[in-house]
Amino acid sequence: MGVPERHIVLIGMMGAGKTTVGSRLARALDRPFVDSDVRVEQRTARSVREIFETDGEAAYRALESEVLAEALGSEEPAVIAAAGGTILDPNNRRRMKECGTVVFLEAKPGELLPRVGGQDHRPLLRDDPAGVLQQMDTVRRPLYEETADFVVDVAANRADEVVEQILELVTR
Ligand code: S3P
Repeated sequence: MGVPERHIVLIGMMGAGKTTVGSRLARALDRPFVDSDVRVEQRTARSVREIFETDGEAAYRALESEVLAEALGSEEPAVIAAAGGTILDPNNRRRMKECGTVVFLEAKPGELLPRVGGQDHRPLLRDDPAGVLQQMDTVRRPLYEETADFVVDVAANRADEVVEQILELVTR
């Protein structure tokens, strides 16, 4: 069987490697790559941090849901990196499942911590990254799991191995 004519949607926590894996996967499949954070920044001509700081998290969440819905609604199958918090919204989860094959890039908070430093688009991790990642994991893990068609362990594998595994899973 070939690659399904659906979007491939990557979900998972900050630092899981959605952008790195997603752009490589898109290249391997010769598909467009959409990163929801980048789309929000292009749309608003503002940085994620600036939106959080000026308008607050709720305003940012509305924007990310909007760009995600647009990306999922596009007819050309793409690889979509859905920012870590997109799965908090039940409508986002439903749309992802309807329009794509969803892959959860899975890692434990302690494994993510060394991977999230110095990232300007992650204002939520500014003060207590270890504590926040732990809290987020508790709330979000069940949502990532219920939304995903497939789960890939990203801590145990290099990015190119993760790409290979996803290619294998989606073409099975
Ligand atoms: C967030 C994840 C970030 C960014 C924002 C909030 C989250 O994207 O959207 O800082 O709540 O998990 P990445 O998952 O691409 O880091």
